[in-house]
This record gives sequence, C-alpha cells and structure tokens, in this order.
Amino acid sequence: CGIVGYIGYRNAWEVIIKGLKRLEYRGYDSAGIALMNEKLHVYKRAGKVSDLETYAGQVATNSSLGMGHTRWATHGAPNDRNAHPHASSDQKLAIVHNGIIENYASIKAMLIQKGQYFVSDTDTEVLIKLIEQIQLEENSSLQEAVRLALTQVSGAFALVIASQDDSDLLIAARRGSPMVIGIGEGEYFIASDASPMIEYTKHVYYPEDNELIFLHRNEIEIRNLTNVVLSPYIQELELELEALEKGGYDHFMLKEIYEQPHSIANCMRGRIDHERKKINLGGISEYAAKLLTAKRIIIVSCGTSWHAGLVGEYLIEEYARIPVEVEYASEFRYRHPIINQDDIVIAISQSGETADTIAAIELAKRAGATILGICNVVGSSIPRLSHTGMYTHAGPEIGVASTKAFTAQVTALSLLALYLAQQQERLPLSKITSLLTALETAPALITTCFQSNALIQHIAGEIKDSTNCLFLGRGINFPVALEGALKLKEISYIHAEGYPAAEMKHGPIALIDEQMPVIVIATKDSSYDKIISNIQEVKARKGKIIAIITEGDTVIRAIADYIIEIPPCEEALTPILATIPLQLLAYHIAVMRGCNVDQPRNLAKSVTVE
Ligand code: G6P
Repeated sequence: CGIVGYIGYRNAWEVIIKGLKRLEYRGYDSAGIALMNEKLHVYKRAGKVSDLETYAGQVATNSSLGMGHTRWATHGAPNDRNAHPHASSDQKLAIVHNGIIENYASIKAMLIQKGQYFVSDTDTEVLIKLIEQIQLEENSSLQEAVRLALTQVSGAFALVIASQDDSDLLIAARRGSPMVIGIGEGEYFIASDASPMIEYTKHVYYPEDNELIFLHRNEIEIRNLTNVVLSPYIQELELELEALEKGGYDHFMLKEIYEQPHSIANCMRGRIDHERKKINLGGISEYAAKLLTAKRIIIVSCGTSWHAGLVGEYLIEEYARIPVEVEYASEFRYRHPIINQDDIVIAISQSGETADTIAAIELAKRAGATILGICNVVGSSIPRLSHTGMYTHAGPEIGVASTKAFTAQVTALSLLALYLAQQQERLPLSKITSLLTALETAPALITTCFQSNALIQHIAGEIKDSTNCLFLGRGINFPVALEGALKLKEISYIHAEGYPAAEMKHGPIALIDEQMPVIVIATKDSSYDKIISNIQEVKARKGKIIAIITEGDTVIRAIADYIIEIPPCEEALTPILATIPLQLLAYHIAVMRGCNVDQPRNLAKSVTVE
C-alpha cells in the first residue's frame, strides 16, 4: 500500500491525490483520502486513485491537512468499506496504514468486550479504535495514546493519524514499513517513498523503526516508543521530477525498457576504470577481504530479483569460483537454514522494501553473516540494514513489471563477479579485459536490440491469443527464460512457464502442439548445439518456435518459425541482451490484449507484506 500525509498551507487534496497517483505502483485496489476542515471528511472507494478523484473531486473540502491511501488488500476484500482511511468510533480520528498488525484479532476481541464495534474487516480499524480506547481510559493526549497503542501491537506499520481536535497536528509512525518525511517551510509531507514530495522539497528524513513523528506546521518532533526525543538526520533528495513521468511514452513500462542503455550505463558509472581495465567498487572495498574468503554466498530475493540472483550464481561461480546458492527469501526465512559466520548473504531488491527479503536479512544477520545489499531505491530499508552493498542506479521504476531494474541488477552482479575474480587474480587478465569491454559495450548493443521492435510487435500479433507459452533457455540463459515467462504472465495474463530447455522432455513437452508458442533463447554460446536439439524436439511436435538468436545465425533461422536477432557478444552478456526482446514481446502482447500494462491486476510493485 501507499500512504501520503500533508500538513501546511497548500490545498491538501491536490498534494495528496497527485502523491497517491505516484504511489499507485504499490497497490491500486482501493483508495481514500481524509481532509481536515473543522471536521474530518473521509472519501474512499474501491478502484483506482482516478476513481476516487472522480467520485470526490467535486465535493472534496478545502483543507491544508490530510492523508491518503492507495491499497493492496491484505485483510478484507478490496471494497469501499475496507478502503482507508479508517476512523475512530466518534469519527474524530482518522488513520491510513501500510503494513500488517499481526495481533489485531486479540486486540479486536478485547475492544469488542469494551463496547467498540467495527465496520470493516481490517487490522487498521482495530489500531485506530485501540488508540481511541486508550485515550478514553487513560485520559491521555493523542500523542501519548498513539505511543501506548504502538507498544501493544506486533507487526509492521507506516501510518498517519490526524485528529479533528487539533488542526495543527499530523502524527506519523513506522516499524518495518517504508516511510519518508519531507521537510518544507511551514509544511511537512509524509509518504511511502519520496515521489509525492519531489516538487515541493528536497529535504527528507527517513524515520527509523519505532519512531513517532509529530508534525505541526512549524515544528517537527520525533520520539521513540520509550518517549525519548530524537533529532532528525535530514538528507538531500536526489530524485528528479522527469524520472517520475512518462516522457512521451504510452506506458512507463515501455519508457523503462527504452531507458536500459542509460540505466545500465548509470549502474557502471564510476565503477570501471577504463584505462586500467579494472573494477572499483568503493562501497564494498572495506568488505573485500571477507567476500574473498567466504566459503559460500547465499543470494536471497523475490520475483524478478530472484531471477537476477540466478544469473548472478552463474557469473560468480564461473568467474570467482565461490559456491553460490540462490533462495527465495520467503522460503529461506522459514526453513531453519544453516547460516555460518563466514557466509555472505547478497540480498537483491529493486524496492529495497520487500518484507520477505528484509526478514531473510535479519535472520542471516542474527546468525552472524555479512549482508551485501543490491538495491535500486536509494535510502530504502535493505541498504540501511545491510553491512555493505551496491546501488543499481537504474532510476525510479514505476511499471509494476520490472524491466530496467532487472538488467541493472544483472549488471551489478556482473561487476561484482568480475571484481571478486580480479581481486583473487584467478582469471587471466585478457579474460577480465574482454569481459569488461563487453560490459562497456552493453548500452550500445541494447540499442541495437531495439531495432527488432517492429518485428517483435508483429510476432506479438501472431501469438497474442495463445493460452499458454513456454520459454526455454540453458545455462546462464535459463533464468532469462524464467524472466521472459514471468513478464508475459504478469502483464498479459497468458499462462507462461520458463524451463531449462533440457528439462522440457521431462514434462512440458507433453503440452506442445500447434497452438503452443515456444520461445527459445538460442544464442551462440556454450550450449548452442544442445539447444538446437531442443528446438528440433519442439519442431517435431509442431510447436511454434520463436528463437532469440545471435545475429547471422542461419542454422536456427532455417528451423524456427520466427527469429529475433541480438548482436554477437560475450556469453556473460547474453542474459541482458536476450531479456530486451522478451520484455518487448510481453509488452506488445499485453497492449494488444487491452491489459493495463503498468498496473496489472492483483500485483503490487513493492510487496511490504509477508
Ligand atoms: C513484486 C514485484 C516484482 C518484484 C518483486 C520483488 O512481486 O511485482 O516486480 O520483482 O516484488 O521486489 P523487489 O523490490 O524486492 O525487487
């Protein structure tokens, strides 16, 4: 979910609605807003922020204090009743909340006994009514009641609370869920990330866990849950407004696909010493010795980031010869894993906020492992929890289906693998030099891949009505097949599976018939001959073959129904280049099927719940 809060002198409705639209990538099944003007006015709806805007735009009250929410349902169906904000029984308090209150059921039972009643199925309503109850029973200030309530709840929260009795107070608090406070002159902003405040202020404060922030128009006060006053460490925001807009593209996803030459160059900037053909990773140099003596690297991540981790496994094992295991963070954390003090845990995350990845890090940290974060969002939770790390510097990714963040993650992992190899003096210098040269040319080669866009659009038209698709790859391109399948299913709702090509004959081959498009990554790499055999196996069952091949390959061209060429390159670079046509293919198919490309149903970009 995404939350926004505003206190100041501007029209709160406008600030909050615009902010919610920027946060919609975090969830978009319902939205709501509370505005204070003598009393609290709450407007909320199932649907998108634009539905809320149409519904409440004409009637919304004039106000300079308010809060908003865009929801990704956890407790309770996405309907009007469960949408945030939620109010206290006397309607004087309003709250928006991102996260989960784990012990809400027992608190709810206790409150019902005391006479409170509930109008929604949410954990959030329980929290605001707990605060109300404490205020009544203890006769305490709102600030104190919020503090006491938060000491009683377990789980995660980023929340904003306002009271009708104080038009110069907005309360924020966080534990586990992301939050940024924007600091202006005579105004403050609260949001799940910095995007809603970018045009108003460059000064931000990232609250730590268990902090309460009391905002008055001319004052910020921060306390922890034991009531100790803290002083904010205010940072300068580097985000630019253009990065958050579509810039002439029909969708953010398309814009982000086309940004990849640039985002990859940004990921490498300052990290390659072109003259000496060396990699410099300033951020992790302090931990270099630890990395080099590690007996094992464990990569934890979710979704697309997990696919990047799988590519990383190939690269690190190949070049640095350190054993790597890649785990879904959500599985790792719950299965009592063996973690040693000399293990390195690499956590990969675009958002830096994925709840399962954070929990996996915390577990590994407790076991004494060293954590290296590879994240995109600067200042997010995972980089702050990690001992060391690398930012991917891909810039804000708004499309829910990850594109440029993935290729930047693979770039970062390539740099890391080569850095380790170079420190170990394991690879011959000539190999390092040629790999570095390959990486340096990646932005230009990606631009070449875009030349196939019209052809890809044509192929998309040919297969858009399929109900199933199979993606095959081998070796370092097996994770690319997984990622290609994930992209397609996420945004077009076509069932798609990624498989190691050789495993096809152990199951998926049974599915192949004339109706089944099979997308094969078949570049001229170390498994080229083998993949030709796999293509023949598909052909023999009349599957429709779409092959991603190395430019000039006439052998596969003669067998496949459609071919998409990528330029010749080092094998290590093929995952990045082969991903580009798969992203475009998924994009065009989704557009042709009339799907909402940037906000596919049921998904959220930043999954801050477990
Ligand atoms: C969600 C997103 C995916 C993303 C995954 C992990 O499912 O929709 O695009 O890959 O979370 O997110 P992270 O921010 O940790 O990379």
